[in-house]
Amino acid sequence: MTGILKVDSQRLTVHDLSDIENRSDAVDGQDVIEGLSSQPKFLPPKYFYDQRGSQLFDQICELPEYYPTRTETAILKEFGGAIAQTTGPCEIVELGSGSATKTRFLLNAYQSAGHPLRYLPIDVSETALVESSKQLLLEYSALTIHGLISTYEPALAKLPAAQLPARMICFIGSTIGNLQPHEYSAFLDRMARSLRPKDYFLLGIDLQKEVSVLEAAYNDSRGITAAFNLNMLRHLNYRFDGDFDVDCFAHVACYNQESHQIEMHLESLKAQTVQLKALGLTVRFASGERLLSEISRKFDLEKTAQTLAARHLPVVTTFTDQNRWFGLLLCQRSPDRC
Ligand code: TRP
Repeated sequence: MTGILKVDSQRLTVHDLSDIENRSDAVDGQDVIEGLSSQPKFLPPKYFYDQRGSQLFDQICELPEYYPTRTETAILKEFGGAIAQTTGPCEIVELGSGSATKTRFLLNAYQSAGHPLRYLPIDVSETALVESSKQLLLEYSALTIHGLISTYEPALAKLPAAQLPARMICFIGSTIGNLQPHEYSAFLDRMARSLRPKDYFLLGIDLQKEVSVLEAAYNDSRGITAAFNLNMLRHLNYRFDGDFDVDCFAHVACYNQESHQIEMHLESLKAQTVQLKALGLTVRFASGERLLSEISRKFDLEKTAQTLAARHLPVVTTFTDQNRWFGLLLCQRSPDRC
């Protein structure tokens, strides 16, 4: 067994893979060096999620303008029973589990169906994972949890053997929209390889809609999204001994209608030089220069279903809300054909 295994109780096991990841990178932060040395500059979204970032993200999810969480939660609440009925007894794996708020609607449905409860959360934030797991164990007395502190790829490679007849990997919150198109295809292939035939994949996607609704969701009036975006720079300061002056950058988010995606930037408010001592990196920013911190792609239900079918992940059932603002796709891994 690689990584650090921490057994908290008979019902909670936490497997920390973050040290393996860091060892496998030539240097921790190689991705930061690459992003900040590129033209245009970018940063990998995983650096959003330190403890403060995870807390700010929870606040985003409750903003009146940020409709995705509310809408997806309502879909899970309404159709959780149908999902549990379709899959039968099945382990729930969740990529980017965070505070696991939405997961409760799935657990409730599996509990009501009389199915055994086993949950495998995967998250880069150890605090978020351990705290939410402990809370879930208090709420669900029959639940067992095996958590993995990791990014997606190593976790999918290291999932423990299934203990229930089936497994469902959940990737909700439209986080798949934060992947670049080439990462998206590679991710779906990875997903198909991680699942045995007949296992399930539950995918949440934010759908294309009016631009004003989309832009408001990423430019909230209270500035929480701005704080979340800027927190990435604080996180880098802490992690790599950096001197980003957070007040000299601004949050900018706009919808690109050709590529159907929100593009989130950090804009340099003046010409400035930033150092990240632990990486031996000096970065120059021109005044007005933008660094891309995140994209959030918006999907078309039919096209996405076609893509999934072509990747051995055909959609069994599509769930959506009345406005068709958000889609939850239950897919089932098809057998490989020779
Ligand atoms: N998956 C979420 C989304 O694309 C992530 C997100 C929401 C986000 N608001 C954000 C990421 C603001 C960065 C900044 O909607």
